[in-house]
Amino acid sequence: MNKYPKLLLPDIPNLNNIETYLTNGGFEAYRKALTMTPDEVISEVKKSGLRGRGGACFPTGLKWSFMPKTNDVPKYLCVNGDESEPGSFKDRQIFEFNPFQLIEGILIAGYAMGINTAYIYIRGEYHKWINLMQSALDIAYDKGFVGIKMKETFGSDYWLNIYIHKGAGAYICGEETALMSSIEGDRGYPRFKPPFPAQRGLWGYPTTINNVETIAAVPPIINMGGDEYAKIGAPRHPGTLLFGVSGHINKPGVYELPTGVPLKEIIYEHCGGVWKNKALKAVIPGGSSMPPLTAEEAEEALMDEESLQKYGTHIGTGGIIVMDEDTDIVKITYRIAHFYHHESCGQCTPCREGCGWMEKVLKRIYEGNATSKDLDLLYSVASNIEGNTICALGDAAAWPVKGFLTKFRSEFEKRVKPARDFVAPNIVHGKRRSAASLVEHRS
Ligand SMILES: Cc1cc2nc3c(=O)[nH]c(=O)nc-3n(C[C@H](O)[C@H](O)[C@H](O)COP(=O)(O)O)c2cc1C
Ligand code: SF4
Repeated sequence: MNKYPKLLLPDIPNLNNIETYLTNGGFEAYRKALTMTPDEVISEVKKSGLRGRGGACFPTGLKWSFMPKTNDVPKYLCVNGDESEPGSFKDRQIFEFNPFQLIEGILIAGYAMGINTAYIYIRGEYHKWINLMQSALDIAYDKGFVGIKMKETFGSDYWLNIYIHKGAGAYICGEETALMSSIEGDRGYPRFKPPFPAQRGLWGYPTTINNVETIAAVPPIINMGGDEYAKIGAPRHPGTLLFGVSGHINKPGVYELPTGVPLKEIIYEHCGGVWKNKALKAVIPGGSSMPPLTAEEAEEALMDEESLQKYGTHIGTGGIIVMDEDTDIVKITYRIAHFYHHESCGQCTPCREGCGWMEKVLKRIYEGNATSKDLDLLYSVASNIEGNTICALGDAAAWPVKGFLTKFRSEFEKRVKPARDFVAPNIVHGKRRSAASLVEHRS
């Protein structure tokens, strides 16, 4: 038996059936929320300590409190199910196995912030999950749990419409401002903040963007009360989290566990250990944008934001990628850099040029054509991207490169030639280039 509470993906067969959901207390949290004022609901979510599960770990109740109280203007909720970060595949479990809890969470969030329109933005490649979620939504409309009919069902004046918006395959559309542009029908370009979405969001109106898992956590919070929820897991980052475990592991999958659980326990107890009896080399703890942990760090790390910060990394999306002793760290870093270069929207120079540059240098290192100077060049390019871009994709590209380079430096050093001995393979104007000039020319 599982020794931990399961609030998001409970072990109840057919919970994606509305009747099963109702017999197991479905929509009771929303009924309870209706007995509270919207501010009381927000304060309950604040007390719970819930922090966003979309990567940035921002306190949810605080985010909701930024929404203006006026009901004179349209206000929107965007539920972010773009889930395109390599290593992240947990929101789709909610779409498939507990869609009505997500709908109920949307109703509670909408009521708390005075919102009448919500969008669920789902990754375009998720055909199956878009269909599953749409079927659940259709049933919720038919049964009067969503839309204008919910006024009768719940005996309250509050109502809310929910629409599903399909993405079109761009990772950048998961970034909240790009997501809003995409819903508006424009190209998914991020924009500067401020103004923040709560001030100026979808179609210029106040908007809150929350991850699917964040919103699905709200009904249990209202049911049990914020104080009780806050007792689960790590005190400063409480609750249960959906850890999506992939890579060189015996039992990959999505595991709901309390925050603060030892990574060692996830890998060896829940996931059956590293595959083929291999030793561990590295672990990415929260999706491909997060710096890695070494095997030694993974032995002692606890899986909550504050604990991971001690190792220079973050919880991100909770997407854990396990790498065994045979993993080519240079190749992994090169592959990750390729992804971010490909997904950069190209609006800002440090990200557009820097991501391409990092990929090129990593290709050189991977193919054995680099010198030791390239390692410093790579670090410097990554540092110049970080913090200098419109959106956090720049950081997402720079962090894993810097992390792998710093923590696994020897793996990179083994692949490069000493700068002074290096003879460039190409001849320019009849002369061989020096390594130094090569660095300048390639920059
Ligand atoms: C490039 C990029 C991609 C992102 N992709 C996602 C995503 O797929 N899902 C998600 O919830 N958040 C994603 N985010 C984070 C969102 O911008 C936003 O912080 C999040 O949806 C807020 O929800 P939360 O507070 O519930 O975590 C992404 C951010 C960036 C910079
Ligand atoms: S950081 Fe990259 S993805 Fe984000 S806006 Fe700039 S160019 Fe586009």
